[in-house]
Amino acid sequence: MTVFIDRMIPQIGLDLLNEAGITYEQHVDRRELSTQELIDRCSKHNALLTAGWGPLNSEFIAACKHLKIISLHSVGYDRVDIKAATKWGIPVGNTPDVLSEATADTAFLLMLAVSRKALYLHKKIIKGEWGFSQPIDDLGFSLQGKTLGIFGLGNIGCELAKKAKAAFNMPIIYHNRSHNKEAERNLGAKRVSFDDLVSQSDVLVAFSSLTPETKNKFNRDVFRKMKPSAIFINPSRGGVHNEPDLIEALQQGIIWGAGLDVTNPEPMQADNPLLNMPNVAVFPHIGSNTVEARNGMASIAAKNVIAAFQGRPLLHIVNPEVYEQH
Ligand code: DGY
Repeated sequence: MTVFIDRMIPQIGLDLLNEAGITYEQHVDRRELSTQELIDRCSKHNALLTAGWGPLNSEFIAACKHLKIISLHSVGYDRVDIKAATKWGIPVGNTPDVLSEATADTAFLLMLAVSRKALYLHKKIIKGEWGFSQPIDDLGFSLQGKTLGIFGLGNIGCELAKKAKAAFNMPIIYHNRSHNKEAERNLGAKRVSFDDLVSQSDVLVAFSSLTPETKNKFNRDVFRKMKPSAIFINPSRGGVHNEPDLIEALQQGIIWGAGLDVTNPEPMQADNPLLNMPNVAVFPHIGSNTVEARNGMASIAAKNVIAAFQGRPLLHIVNPEVYEQH
């Protein structure tokens, strides 16, 4: 049993595979493999451990139906055609929880960076523009007591809510399909309709996964319902917001600012107007970029492979129904 690994992952994951007597081939070049290249590589192995970004679509799955597992080195699984994987009996593993804190920290950092125009002002120094300034120049605003609205309050959202409450005493409102009783009990979070979430939030954070229902969810109509003083933050998937609509909303002063850890498309082009707006902060998808989170992800991804090879259930599985049908 051998594994193909399509990116360089932390050593802890490789050590776990070695200890379990599993051999692997790792793609170490700094480029994404094409679907055909990935198919060719996987044809020589029994599992794929993947930290890449390319789509694992029905074409890929049909060509790789021999795989015992697709082990994602991510919590998100929108790049995988889950239906096709399930149809061919391939379990798909992911790595939730271990990156919740790091991703929440990234959202927190975006909130502060936007509210204080931090990246824009930093760029001014680099351009030699730190000169005379009036006490009324480049003002941001305080987050103290401002309402934090969370679309998709799960583990990551709760981590952010905890931090925002502790640091700035921010009241929390959220919109989920069902109640998050724990967040209501522990954080005083209040479940509201989507429209109320949008119109009442001072900082509105989209934490949902990318699905057909959430694609372009934050669009012109939604931005128009937000407070003109509000900040939109997206640390989840770029496809959840409509980028031209967001640019327009910021240019027209319909909303005050935006913080993105994910863009649409990725990577963002250097001439994107968002990069030169004072009230915008953009990061290159660094949500889980901490040693701690990445070690946790590599460890779960490797353990998922080991479990699949040993005929045990995965630690974290996206399509548990695969076990019922085969
Ligand atoms: C995830 O795990 O889905 C993140 O976006 C990758 O860093």
